Amino acid sequence: MSHKSPKDFFRPLAVGAPAPLREIPARPSRAIHFFDPSNEKMAAKIPGMIGTVDVLLGNLEDAVKADNKVAAREGLVKIAQNTDFGPTQLWTRINALDSPWVLDDLTTLVPAIGDKLDVIMVPKVQGAEDIHYVDRLLAQLEAKAGITKPILVHAILETARGVANVEEICGASPRMQGLSLGPADLAADRKMKTTRVGGGHPGYLVRQDPPKDELGVSRIDAQRAIFQQDLWHYTIAKMVDACATHGIYPYYGPFGDIADVVACEDQFRNAFLLGCVGTWSLHPKQIAIANRVFSPSVEDIAHARRVVAAMGDGTGAVMIDGKMEDDASLKQCLVLVELAEKLAEIDPDLKAQYDAIETVEA
Ligand code: GLV
Ligand code: MG
Repeated sequence: MSHKSPKDFFRPLAVGAPAPLREIPARPSRAIHFFDPSNEKMAAKIPGMIGTVDVLLGNLEDAVKADNKVAAREGLVKIAQNTDFGPTQLWTRINALDSPWVLDDLTTLVPAIGDKLDVIMVPKVQGAEDIHYVDRLLAQLEAKAGITKPILVHAILETARGVANVEEICGASPRMQGLSLGPADLAADRKMKTTRVGGGHPGYLVRQDPPKDELGVSRIDAQRAIFQQDLWHYTIAKMVDACATHGIYPYYGPFGDIADVVACEDQFRNAFLLGCVGTWSLHPKQIAIANRVFSPSVEDIAHARRVVAAMGDGTGAVMIDGKMEDDASLKQCLVLVELAEKLAEIDPDLKAQYDAIETVEA
């Protein structure tokens, strides 16, 4: 098989389309807040949310009723045309590639608001062929509409085949911006036996060993600690590796139990610790959780700055509070410090908190 030359990936796929980007910008995207543009009450709140959330996403796919698909598409066009988004990114989630709506989604949105859309989220991606289809079509539409900045593509990881093909999906186009976990569709597609949207499950657990009685017999009916395990650990870790390999960004997805802000925070934090840069928000109260969780803590930044200061040229080893730090732990600290700097540029409250950290001599 003859493969496309790496050089060709950076040529536009249609005459007159903007040149693909060589790097995906690391724009803060802690919360991707979903709204239904066909819901007028919700849509009216969007201008007021600018600056309070990193990404606003007009959702056209699941959770929008079939009867409202056209209203959602047109609502998004109207909102985008009438709103200055300032520092906030505008994304959309189009309908699935096998649906009756997606062609009109793309052929309507790109000419009407293609200059305002930062990222198009594509659901139910199965393999590189899905990204290739969207890639070429976007180039044609961009060329026709005279769009000068390439629209980026984000895939939802929510089919078993998509997970199996995650690396080729990430590398399928220079437009690829990132991936989100889609736990609800993924559970169904894999035939997992859950009925939830994201989060843990009380049945997925490990149990402490039974204690033994004086004769050495295991008391299996004794009270034993159980620990719920994370159903999504494998997929998130796999997604993070694939994204890091290709220089794009991984995200958690939806957490459906809006009332359980505690478990939501745990799930988001697990994703942050494993390498994700953000998550979806399905309700305004999840924005606050995401902004908190996906920003490095003041304690972590205080420690990271001490390590950076103590490590001088970045080689060798030092002891700080009884712990060994070296070139590799310095690199971890720099990930946090650089993220904090990026976030401080757009979040004045966070900037004030980081600025207030006292420099402690190591
Ligand atoms: C999101 O789209 C999901 O299916 O979880
Ligand atoms: Mg889904």
